[in-house]
Amino acid sequence: MTFPADLLTLLLRTSKLAALTGAGVSQESGLRTFRDAQSGLWAQYRPEDLASPEAFARDPKLVWDWYAWRREAVKAVRPNPGHYALVEIEKRVPHFTLITQNVDGLHRMAGSRNVLELHGNIQRVRCSECYAFAETWGDDGESVPRCEICGGLLRPDVVWFGEALPREQLEAAVEAARTCDVFFSIGTSGVVQPAASLAYAARNRGAVVVEVNLEPTPLTPKADFFLQGKSGEILPALVKAVWG
Ligand code: APR
Repeated sequence: MTFPADLLTLLLRTSKLAALTGAGVSQESGLRTFRDAQSGLWAQYRPEDLASPEAFARDPKLVWDWYAWRREAVKAVRPNPGHYALVEIEKRVPHFTLITQNVDGLHRMAGSRNVLELHGNIQRVRCSECYAFAETWGDDGESVPRCEICGGLLRPDVVWFGEALPREQLEAAVEAARTCDVFFSIGTSGVVQPAASLAYAARNRGAVVVEVNLEPTPLTPKADFFLQGKSGEILPALVKAVWG
């Protein structure tokens, strides 16, 4: 795999890099994207019927069961070479921020340290009322487990459709995008806001934007470099080409 020489030089010199990742990065770990994951039993539901506050209010058991099922799917997978390449980049670039829309926790599992999880983490469970996190819960299969403190229903600590993103994480992500020299957009369709706007925020402040994706996205015409292919192949090759 060959890369433009000016990209390699730029990466070798950069001191501030931010990367935004999406479902595509986990695809090679065998995790299907949210929409693809709705197979079999779950195919009859729209995403909004499984992942929104309204859905939880209407049928908490359905939503709890869907996430319990996805949580098990996530437990069965491991990081792939794309995740590990991002760990290598973090070791080599002085200031590196990894911003992810993924809730699977695979970046941390791979060893990434400075990770902003914009959409939460599916392995974390919290009370829907008092926000207390639950480490353990009994699931009798009949009803949604309840908070030990206030008795509220437990829910996954992920951002549902129509919910706000965690403020501190979002602010840190915007700051990283605005101040980086190079911004990577990797394996994301770039259509879900506000994450999608980060690449533009970076670009408007003069950062070089590099996109890695299987196929072009709305960002592609604005990107300085578009590296087309699998992130699990491109990122390790790029690390090797830049840092040897
Ligand atoms: N390498 C690189 N890119 C890939 C790969 C791969 N191996 N496989 C798929 N892709 C690309 C696809 O071409 C697509 O552009 O990854 C992108 C995945 O897009 P989405 O499924 O829309 O995922 P994402 O951008 O993370 O979605 C954002 O939407 O469903 C909600 O909250 C959910 O966080 C999610 C958000």
